[in-house]
Amino acid sequence: MKNTNKRVEEILSKMSLKDKIGQLNQDIIKVSELDKAKKAIKEKRVGSLILSSSAFAGNEFQEGAKADLINEVQKYAMDELGIPILFGRDVIHGHKTVYPIPLAMAASFNSDLIKKSYEEIALEASNEGVNWTFTPMLDVSRDPRWGRIIESPGEDPYVGAKMAEAVVKGLQGDDLTKQEKIVACAKHFIGYGQSEGGRDYHRTEISDYTLRNYYLKAFKAASEAGVKTVMSSFNEISGQPVSSSKYLMQDVLKDEIGFDGFIVSDWGAIVQLINQGVAEDEKEAAYLSINAGLDMDMVDYCYGYLEELIEEGKVDIETINESVRRILTVKVEAGLFDNPYITPVKIDYEKHAETSCKLASESMVLLKNEGILPLSKDSKIALIGPMTTEKRALLGSWTLDFDLEKTVTIFDGIKNIAPNATIETRSNYDEMGAAIRKSDVVILALGESDQVTGEARSLASIEISDMQKDIIKRAKLYGKKVIGVMCFGRCVALESVEPYFDAILYAWHLGSQTGNAAAKIIFGDEVPSGKTAVTFPRVTGQIPLYYNVSSSGRNVNGYYGIENLSNYEDVKGSPMYPFGYGLSYTTYNYSNLKVDNTKINLCDIEKGKCVKVSVDVKNTGNYDAKEIVQCYVMM
Ligand code: NOJ
Repeated sequence: MKNTNKRVEEILSKMSLKDKIGQLNQDIIKVSELDKAKKAIKEKRVGSLILSSSAFAGNEFQEGAKADLINEVQKYAMDELGIPILFGRDVIHGHKTVYPIPLAMAASFNSDLIKKSYEEIALEASNEGVNWTFTPMLDVSRDPRWGRIIESPGEDPYVGAKMAEAVVKGLQGDDLTKQEKIVACAKHFIGYGQSEGGRDYHRTEISDYTLRNYYLKAFKAASEAGVKTVMSSFNEISGQPVSSSKYLMQDVLKDEIGFDGFIVSDWGAIVQLINQGVAEDEKEAAYLSINAGLDMDMVDYCYGYLEELIEEGKVDIETINESVRRILTVKVEAGLFDNPYITPVKIDYEKHAETSCKLASESMVLLKNEGILPLSKDSKIALIGPMTTEKRALLGSWTLDFDLEKTVTIFDGIKNIAPNATIETRSNYDEMGAAIRKSDVVILALGESDQVTGEARSLASIEISDMQKDIIKRAKLYGKKVIGVMCFGRCVALESVEPYFDAILYAWHLGSQTGNAAAKIIFGDEVPSGKTAVTFPRVTGQIPLYYNVSSSGRNVNGYYGIENLSNYEDVKGSPMYPFGYGLSYTTYNYSNLKVDNTKINLCDIEKGKCVKVSVDVKNTGNYDAKEIVQCYVMM
């Protein structure tokens, strides 16, 4: 660390003010427009380039990255500035190989497998020149109408903290100087997941109590895991936009938590301070953000005003030095000053597909099973529904570099895993009866498009579509058992359709291997173990419904099925499926629960004292399987 500091101070001492301010700016690089990137380096002296074709990278077509072109731009930057560029890209849950959406990954409760997946993701992305990515997304999310819930770890701060640690360690590793490691970014700091009504970019109202008990924990965990960057969020909290809040960025994140990397704004978060009513113009927006501790401006072009602001005495040069110092430190720690270039290596994509498949099967949640699953591998199956041969939706939002060819559909997965099964399928739903009559069992492959999930893609209703409801009801008419394979990016309201199914396998958007993973569970090659990290409401109107609600004087949240006057009159108070719910093919017996200290108080816990809870878990069924043992604490 001492050496790093020394090196950074040396570099800093040779930089002009223009060079310093340049480091605080991120511009765009389009692979097809490299000259523009070089121009930006020459004229604006940028510190980072984002590999993106638009502000909506998650749901619009994006050009790919290429190592040789990135090397060319990096060489230009080294010659021109003597300082390497951080090339950022949204590599959220996969690169060429796509892994499950983070909300699904969280249901695996398998930190080791998540970490391994992000090691592979870092390898694939770094091989094309990406050295910084904007993940993990750590927004506690209680509202499935919000399209961005797909990127989140769900509603639980502890699960969020475990995800933070796994993703950061997977991406950055123990030695960030290695080519296959990339800089992580914990986002969106903070409270963006509370967006009012689930509408994207909306305001939030978060008390300090809620901030500290729910929203901050995952960011603290990311910082403790060594995350090098944090992204400030778009939202305001109780009237104060985060991206101009000294309290949140400087006092809480940097000073109190001790985050020692740098903060980058979200795309437009600085300039939007004008719309949010706290800044008159771009210059004032820059003044507010830099003085609040926001180090790098993502494609807002507001930090161009910093020179004027220094001249006017509104920004202290030490403030600029501190931000530059933080950015240079990350570049030194990432080994970019020593070797900024990429030497592509051969990647074993087959191995990555295996990991993706394993994580996909552990992320699936079996919601219902009236003894029908697993199926025998020589079943006669009617396979119906819009997700039967769909590929793109299964990859989910926020995947920019996917390979559609290598994406396994539900249809292909069943053929791969059960080659002796007979599959009857119809794309014309009027003819589905003919397929069902010829079959023993019906599998309905249902779901939603990736285009109704992700950024700026919220829904007013989380009911499944009328067309799909119709398919479900009609499928039931033939007297065959009906299995639902549900491919959604969020939890949806299943109360109205649940009775029509004999089994429901919740398959989310699980990435490149969705079809194989689903088929492995359907035919018993894998036993389901996923437990949902988000509560499934019965109907949209129950939102927000989350398990870790603080206690009220009367029980308003009928979480565990308690019906009382405070719940709604027109729907049961309990959730459709609670947080932590998920069935298996086997059965378990829990016994011998022991707590080694039942008299501990909060002060002792704060001082680091622990309580050991143990339980014997016995697999009493007919399948080898794994069980996620859950322990809840109530204060
Ligand atoms: C806006 C999104 O909110 C953020 O998550 C993403 O990383 C940036 N755009 C860059 O694309």
